[in-house]
Amino acid sequence: MTEEKKTEQKPIILSGIQPSGELMIGHYLGALKSWVSLQYEYDCLFMLVDMHAITVRQNPAELRKRCYDFVALYVACGIDPEESTIFIQSHVPSHAELAWVLNCYTYMGELNRMTQFKDKSKKHHTNINAGLFTYPILMAADILLYQADLVPVGADQKQHLELTREIAGRFNEAYGETFKVPEPYIPPSGARIMSLQDPTSKMSKSDPNPKSYISLLDNLDEARNKIKRAVTDSEATVAYDESRPGLANLIRIYNGITGEPIEEIVSKYEGKGYAEFKTDLGEVVVDFLRPIQEKYKAIREDKKVLEGIIQKGAEEAIKRSRRTVSKVYKKVGFVPPIR
Ligand code: AMP
Ligand code: TRP
Repeated sequence: MTEEKKTEQKPIILSGIQPSGELMIGHYLGALKSWVSLQYEYDCLFMLVDMHAITVRQNPAELRKRCYDFVALYVACGIDPEESTIFIQSHVPSHAELAWVLNCYTYMGELNRMTQFKDKSKKHHTNINAGLFTYPILMAADILLYQADLVPVGADQKQHLELTREIAGRFNEAYGETFKVPEPYIPPSGARIMSLQDPTSKMSKSDPNPKSYISLLDNLDEARNKIKRAVTDSEATVAYDESRPGLANLIRIYNGITGEPIEEIVSKYEGKGYAEFKTDLGEVVVDFLRPIQEKYKAIREDKKVLEGIIQKGAEEAIKRSRRTVSKVYKKVGFVPPIR
């Protein structure tokens, strides 16, 4: 069997992040960390979903720059471009093509139920555009184009994954087996990392208060300080208790980065106070960020390598996604192009 055939038989993973703010530890613990650990067992495709990003107004120059930053960060975090396909969504026309078809197989009522749409339309109430509403259909197209088996994401994406499964099932029922129905993969401890300033809301790259999140590119002293200043309660002990959300979140971050079980972390700090825990977590975070930032710098400065990764990724993604689009066009009754 050839090498190529062998990789084709591995189950397929597809995931993506919007280059619409800084990549932060919430992304790492919710998504990137699983990408890195699963990449050798699966045939992986990791995207930068720039087409999703423009559902909210973006500064064009910043968006462009951030795409390069993200590719370098994916690699710096441990995605091996020799092993996995890294690509930019807008380089692959199939995403827009399949999204249109799937628009016609998704109901308004389904989209109306999406909580991310509700949240984002509150946040961006002067720009509730149609793209923001149909965004989950583009996400379904992203996944179904590559016949993905597994989609590693944070818990906030579960509803979109369920809709994707619904649309795939509906299409398959109408036209016969066309799409693989994908499964979500939601990591146990990093599923939902909360804001450092308000532990009842999700850590978000678009939070106007940068103290609420730790960017992978934060200055190390700043990162340390953000942990020190993280909002916690006034009790003296370190214990894992969901009713103390600030502390529970910090313990989950500790656990997510080091892999140490939560019970061990808690027992290590028995009888000690918050101050010591926060100082140590600050060091854990800094030791985690330092090598990523060093690797990032080296890759980001080498435009040739960066462009090579992006080009190779686009070629692979275009090739693979075309097969699905052709199949879908045929099934719905479009006349094949005359060649
Ligand atoms: P986004 O920034 O919305 O494109 O998110 C990219 C990926 O990171 C998705 O899989 C999200 O579920 C995940 N993610 C984003 N924020 C968090 C968070 N605070 N905790 C866990 N996962 C997150
Ligand atoms: N909607 C996802 C988010 O906001 C990003 C995304 C777009 C995605 N397409 C995807 C994630 C396909 C996984 C698979 O986080």
